[in-house]
Amino acid sequence: MGTDVTNFRKEYRFDRLSEATAGADPWQLFEQWFRLAGTSGIHEPNAMSLATATPDGRPSLRVVLLKGVDRGGFTFFTNYESRKGRELAVNPHAALLFWWEPIERQVRVEGVVDKLPAADSDEYYQSRPLGSRLGAWASEQSRVLPDRAVLEQRFADLQAEYSESSPERPAFWGGYRLVPDLFEFWQGGVNRLHDRLRYRRQDDTRWHRERLSP
Ligand SMILES: Cc1cc2nc3c(=O)[nH]c(=O)nc-3n(C[C@H](O)[C@H](O)[C@H](O)COP(=O)(O)O)c2cc1C
Repeated sequence: MGTDVTNFRKEYRFDRLSEATAGADPWQLFEQWFRLAGTSGIHEPNAMSLATATPDGRPSLRVVLLKGVDRGGFTFFTNYESRKGRELAVNPHAALLFWWEPIERQVRVEGVVDKLPAADSDEYYQSRPLGSRLGAWASEQSRVLPDRAVLEQRFADLQAEYSESSPERPAFWGGYRLVPDLFEFWQGGVNRLHDRLRYRRQDDTRWHRERLSP
């Protein structure tokens, strides 16, 4: 690895985050930030890192797509038997991270994950293009494959099988919802004096807000 990474250095000047503009409600602030991220030229502002961990504390991290957000939580879809699915089955604690580079903002979210009701997963599954629906059937996500040809053959067999009918959602594929108990909003600042506001859930409606050192 000969690449010199020491010269990647940037001052953050896009904005500031003050208590006055942030307000008391992290959901509202998330919605504002997400809306701005959506108009900032970011290709997939709904791409988020999802951290899970084994019960003995070995973390793992990957990108998934946010497919729904409201005060009930953050929704994403995946294979329930993937590595993340197996980790969430025994340890439902998880964290999400959004990094929106053009607006120099990071959002961290932590909480507990549960599976979406089957009917909601069915509805989303059936809204996907046929190729994605078959792809979900074809992939034993996170399992070792002998080679790519095996996957492509599985997909081709499914295409033939479903040339005239529509597949049901696989029981091993569906949605999760992360219900947050913590948000942290980070706005990059000059001289590395970034703004960080953390919100911790007190009860169903109230959040405790604190400013953290950068
Ligand atoms: C931009 C992007 C979006 C992705 N979206 C999803 C997704 O919504 N669901 C999913 O299961 N995997 C998605 N992936 C793939 C995951 O990062 C990961 O490879 C896969 O879920 C297996 O992770 P696991 O072995 O930790 O379970 C996405 C990857 C990228 C880079």
